[in-house]
Amino acid sequence: MATAQHLPPLWDAFLRELAEVSTNDALTELRDKYLSRSRGAVTLELKKLGQLPAEERPQAGKLLNQLKVQVEEALAEKAREISDRERSARYENERLDVTLPGYAHHIASRHPIRRALEEMEQIFVSMGFSVMSGPEVELDYYNFEALNIPKGHPARDAQDTLYITENLLLRAHTSPVQIRTMEKQKPPVRIIAPGRVFRRDAVDATHSPMFHQMEGLVVDEGITLADLKGTLEMFLKAFFSEDTRIRLRPSYFPFVEPGAEVDVSCIFCGGTGCGICKQSGWIEIMGAGMVNPRVFQILGYDHEKYSGFAWGMGVDRIVMLKYQVEDLRLLFDNDIRFLSQF
Ligand code: PHE
Repeated sequence: MATAQHLPPLWDAFLRELAEVSTNDALTELRDKYLSRSRGAVTLELKKLGQLPAEERPQAGKLLNQLKVQVEEALAEKAREISDRERSARYENERLDVTLPGYAHHIASRHPIRRALEEMEQIFVSMGFSVMSGPEVELDYYNFEALNIPKGHPARDAQDTLYITENLLLRAHTSPVQIRTMEKQKPPVRIIAPGRVFRRDAVDATHSPMFHQMEGLVVDEGITLADLKGTLEMFLKAFFSEDTRIRLRPSYFPFVEPGAEVDVSCIFCGGTGCGICKQSGWIEIMGAGMVNPRVFQILGYDHEKYSGFAWGMGVDRIVMLKYQVEDLRLLFDNDIRFLSQF
């Protein structure tokens, strides 16, 4: 048998089989079939070399070794192809489209009331006021008695006020903070007190059993009604707009004298008259007045020496005006479609 003659058909057969191979397992099998030590076709040919006549051996050996090298190279090349293909397939699988939009995260916004309160506080702080607070569960004394609201006054009626016990109630206004401040502090006093207040009211577009007020109190020597008007005007111009005007109408609150309701020129029509201001051109936003000397007496302030003014603004009312919210309930319903607009 002449080894040399076996070689071209062996190489051809190898190439045909190699062409069929597409996996590493199949490749290993093919390698074994041609190169394994015990039964590889090429190995077997090499083993047969010894049977050849001595003069043919070098030539045949050379050819066989060349074939072996060719087979090895072809197998190695195939192995590279397979691993390249597997790698591309894996990359294709793991492909990320970095241009796709990411997941949107909801970023909470501040509630419109909180937003307005912060803005209001900032304006008053810039005018030299400090911010005070008081308890929402309040004693009759602070909510009524010390504010010169006598027993039997209609505001004390259980129809209007939410009592916990005879002596304890949910504060009906932020005015108790006036008393708590003056108990602790001697004049000059310049404070605001924002917070929640409670009244026995049914819910509708303009009423809620819980709402917000911002109290203000200034006490010093020589404070006059002009200071009250000037302070409020300055605040309202800063908060709404420079062309906002203000109007005081006489009114009555037991803890101020004189007392007034404060109106702003209508934010919507500028004062010419519209549906929101009921054609009057004005919108009522707070009660105010000069601190009643009776209150100073109760607290032991020298009412000959000191005078002061106070106000209590309806924060929710002001928020509704500022953001043109027509129904108070929207401010308390926690509807994300409403809240996310702020
Ligand atoms: N506390 C009053 C109310 O709730 C408002 C007010 C405050 C009036 C301060 C005068 C001075 O109606």
